[in-house]
Amino acid sequence: MAAHNERKLRSQEWFREPTYYGFARRAWLRSEGFNRDVFDGKPVIGIANSWSELNNCNAHLRQVAEAVKRGVWAAGGVPLEFPTISLGELLMRPTAMLFRNLMAMDIEESIRANPLDGVVLLCGCDKTTPAMLMGAASADVPAIVVPGGPMLSGQWRDRQLGAGTDGRKLFDLFRTGLLSEEEWCEIEGSIARSAGHCTVMGTASTMTNLAEALGMTLPGCAAIPAPDSRRLAIAESSGRRMVEMVWEDLRPSRVMTPAAFENAVAVDMALGGSTNAVVHLVAIAGRLGIGLPLSEFDRISRRTPFLANIKPSGEFLMEDFFRAGSLPALMREILDLLNGDCLTVNGRTVADNVGGAECWDREVIRPRSAPLHPEGGTVILGGNLAPDGAVLKQTAASPRLLEHRGPALAFENIQEMRARIDSPDLPVTPATVLVMKNCGPKGAPGFPEWGHIPLPKVLLEQGVDDMLRISDARMSGTSFGTVVLHVAPESAVGGPLAIVETGDEIALDTPRRRLELVVPADEIERRLAVFVPPPPHYDRGYGRLFLEHVNQAHLGCDFDFLRAVKKNA
Ligand code: FES
Repeated sequence: MAAHNERKLRSQEWFREPTYYGFARRAWLRSEGFNRDVFDGKPVIGIANSWSELNNCNAHLRQVAEAVKRGVWAAGGVPLEFPTISLGELLMRPTAMLFRNLMAMDIEESIRANPLDGVVLLCGCDKTTPAMLMGAASADVPAIVVPGGPMLSGQWRDRQLGAGTDGRKLFDLFRTGLLSEEEWCEIEGSIARSAGHCTVMGTASTMTNLAEALGMTLPGCAAIPAPDSRRLAIAESSGRRMVEMVWEDLRPSRVMTPAAFENAVAVDMALGGSTNAVVHLVAIAGRLGIGLPLSEFDRISRRTPFLANIKPSGEFLMEDFFRAGSLPALMREILDLLNGDCLTVNGRTVADNVGGAECWDREVIRPRSAPLHPEGGTVILGGNLAPDGAVLKQTAASPRLLEHRGPALAFENIQEMRARIDSPDLPVTPATVLVMKNCGPKGAPGFPEWGHIPLPKVLLEQGVDDMLRISDARMSGTSFGTVVLHVAPESAVGGPLAIVETGDEIALDTPRRRLELVVPADEIERRLAVFVPPPPHYDRGYGRLFLEHVNQAHLGCDFDFLRAVKKNA
């Protein structure tokens, strides 16, 4: 313990200040019932809690916080829990993504402004994990992530249901009259059976697993189901470990290195993770001055097999992934593709943590010898329709559409798409390419998950189950289909997507990573020259700040003034 005492704690700048204010800070905090010695040389651990009844995925985090506190006290620290804004994916308008950067600012400034020596980050629902990692990266005070875990698998009659993915599929049956009102009502009551985030490999599961792959959680933490007692046990262990991390000065910048981000991208590919991971990882890396160009995702995708047989790209759910050995088992399978010497929050390396991990179900986590796909889930496209890139989740797409050429049916915005998509005389065939504009970071605004354009009713009734769809939106990680997303630059700032007209031919060539508008170059130039941007959505407040400072998708959609100076450029 002698070494502990030699290290000056950040919190002591508040509590040992030899002025009136040192006294006042101790005295006022003692109004919460603490003894005199509590703030005398013990690490003060903030517990950043995104609990909210407006965010069902995180609604159990108060209990998780109590477990963290037990661990902090037991290790000789002082836990102080504080609320953060919480981003409920399904409730917030126009999209929770509009507020990811606001939450990241909340986390960063809450850590920086308060007498904290370390912070435990409680997250779960989609945007809460990247927001907390972004804020913690900028503050760079020792931090550990404790996600709330996935909800239990949905169960309806004899079917297992994955929140999000199966809901969308069943809704198409309901739209076309193949499910009754009564059945639809039963499904509503049985698809989301507990607290916790969505139980497929959507954005929440992807980002919590990538927090683990980055080294920011204890090993095996991400996939423990929310109601499982082991969720609380690992929360307690995380609280204990946090105190040790303070003494070791183990900061996010020592864990989230360029090599750790390479690991996270490889794990994302092996998981068949959400396309949203691309935006979030670029943003988190940007906070540390680490350049993570889209080309890195494609380079790593080409060499990394897709192994996790989880919906929406596979068959199983997160409970099955946990049972099969979860992320350590998957990482062990690709350990030769990872940087095994990366340091993690438990003070050990990736190789130490996962080298002995076992897999208990080879159908859920496939061996290298029998991958679900030889390449990773997400591919990065270029071409004249997406000069700064676009993403496609090839493992959730229809193989027959990965090389496709067809005429565009262009919608100027989501309102037009919604008004027309079920029209019986919509001019579509299965070869049509549905294009939707003005759904990007500035155009929508906030970069919503509108990219999963529903199939036209007239084609659904013919049994068509997929079409090529293109937009500058994002898509829920729980969605599926041949859907090109994040087209950059977006249409609202004059990207080529803005000048696509109905009838233009569009060509997707996934093996060559090309997305082309098959229109003569001089005609494209002529149309771009007369492009008029739409009026801004906000003229005041946070919305205005967002519109004035948000970066495009390929830069992670962070605010330009929050990115750090690049270290590895
Ligand atoms: Fe929160 Fe799906 S709605 S993770």
